[in-house]
Amino acid sequence: MGPSSLVANSILAVFSAMQLGLISAMAEEGTTVFGVIGEQMILPCTDQAQKDDVTWKYNDQVVIQHRGRVLKGRAPMASRSEINMHEMSKGNFSLKLLKLEKSDNGTYSCTVGATKVKIKLQVFEATRSSSESLLQGGNLILRINEVPGTTVTWSDNHRGSVTATGRRELKNSGHHLEIKNLQIEDSGTWRCHIKSPSASLTIPYEVKVIGFHNLNQETVYTAVNSSANFSYQMNNILQEMTKLKNIRGALMWKSEGESEYREKFNFNFSSGSLRLPKQMANLQFTANLQVKMPKVQFQDAGWYRCQLTLKQGSVKKDIHLVVMKVSAEPVGPLSKGVNVTLLCKLSVAVPAMAQLLWEHVNGTEKACQGPGDTEVKVKTRSVGLWRCSLSMNNSKMISTEYTVVEADEQNYVPIWAGVGVSPVLLLLAGLSIFTCTARQRRRRRAERMVRARRDLIERRTCQCQFQLKNGYSNA
Ligand SMILES: *[C@@H]1O[C@H](CO)[C@@H](O)[C@H](O)[C@H]1NC(C)=O
Ligand SMILES: *[C@@H]1O[C@H](CO)[C@@H](O)[C@H](O)[C@H]1NC(C)=O
Ligand SMILES: *[C@@H]1O[C@H](CO)[C@@H](O)[C@H](O)[C@H]1NC(C)=O
Ligand SMILES: *[C@@H]1O[C@H](CO)[C@@H](O)[C@H](O)[C@H]1NC(C)=O
Ligand SMILES: *[C@@H]1O[C@H](CO)[C@@H](O)[C@H](O)[C@H]1NC(C)=O
Repeated sequence: MGPSSLVANSILAVFSAMQLGLISAMAEEGTTVFGVIGEQMILPCTDQAQKDDVTWKYNDQVVIQHRGRVLKGRAPMASRSEINMHEMSKGNFSLKLLKLEKSDNGTYSCTVGATKVKIKLQVFEATRSSSESLLQGGNLILRINEVPGTTVTWSDNHRGSVTATGRRELKNSGHHLEIKNLQIEDSGTWRCHIKSPSASLTIPYEVKVIGFHNLNQETVYTAVNSSANFSYQMNNILQEMTKLKNIRGALMWKSEGESEYREKFNFNFSSGSLRLPKQMANLQFTANLQVKMPKVQFQDAGWYRCQLTLKQGSVKKDIHLVVMKVSAEPVGPLSKGVNVTLLCKLSVAVPAMAQLLWEHVNGTEKACQGPGDTEVKVKTRSVGLWRCSLSMNNSKMISTEYTVVEADEQNYVPIWAGVGVSPVLLLLAGLSIFTCTARQRRRRRAERMVRARRDLIERRTCQCQFQLKNGYSNA
């Protein structure tokens, strides 16, 4: 082998190495890309050695080409195709397809100079059972079409992988995900992951659920003459809802024994804000769907429902108001040797795992009733502070106090029977009667105030002797 042929050989070797490199960089024969109907897609094609002139074809039809200027071809997607001039000057001849259609599926070729690259586009169809805002309690199905050679998995709004458990069901060999009994916590981005040996794609599905927080049964405990506040907290979609029209809301109520709710008042979201009804004296309703009852009465007990009706349907939440009432028979100060019956009444039967207890504070007398009863009575002669409480699993849900006051045995208004007393003495006596009765009045007022004192939900646990369950605990 002569020196010249050696040079020629090594030139050839360099050339073929260059060519090989070019082929592996560009001609990734069978490169597959995944797209979604309605979205845009970039079909890659780069060649650093070239500066311009590219032809993109779909089958045998030209999609777009650049020969000094951009020309659109006859392929069906030609009008939705673009090439970026600036990128092209850097050797990036990628094709951008806008608003993908199912018929865009197929093989595309990119020809730059003497090099031709083939790219297979697989378009997926991602659909859902409803595109509107969803209502709490409803169902939603997310779908992806089945394509041979691909696997599909799903992840939820917390990026956890979805399995067919609880409210989630996978159908059509995993291509349909059904979320049942939607909760506001399901709001967020769910994702479908498609994989094949040569390509992968993640499709996001935005899910918005309109509904109330803590939908599970909520109970509010209070005592007569105390306040009760509760709210129908919604997810922040409420702000968005005020933009929507035709949403009607209502606050409804039914007493303990009734089966049907009655409307207390309704409201709507007309002209961009929540239009509240005329407020009632004993029940106020605020714009953030909060109910305030400053002085609850026993007959206010029952179920309060807030219901919002949209064109897709309605969502509602029920809150149970349980009221405690204490009373004494006879009322007023207790004379010596007389018994008083203290009654503590609940607007509902004592729930399971709970007890209603009357106890003499710092004393030993107590009486209690277990689940199923609505009241507990105690007959006593013990003056002082009494407390009735409802506790559940060792925590106090509500308590009310009552003070038994001892009657004043002495005659506090002295009988005035003096005759012939000097005017000075008479005046003094008059003064003393005045101060005496004034002190009495003050004392009675103080006693009344003690009696009126109600304290709710104290952190004090107590054990009831269940032997006392059915009887009175006598002094
Ligand atoms: C090529 O250009 C497209 C836009 O047409 C761009 O999205 C893509 O990132 C570019 N690729 C590279 C490797 O720069
Ligand atoms: C509630 O308050 C009213 C007036 O303030 C009073 O007459 C009534 O006895 C109170 N009821 C109870 C159960 O405390
Ligand atoms: C909304 O409420 C306002 C005031 O209460 C009322 O005048 C109006 O008719 C209501 N609109 C609808 C659509 O119910
Ligand atoms: C008060 O209760 C006690 C104990 O039950 C009873 O012996 C007594 O007769 C009762 N007194 C009155 C006045 O009812
Ligand atoms: C009960 O006892 C505690 C501690 O001994 C005392 O602080 C409290 O004032 C007493 N309460 C009543 C109502 O007697």
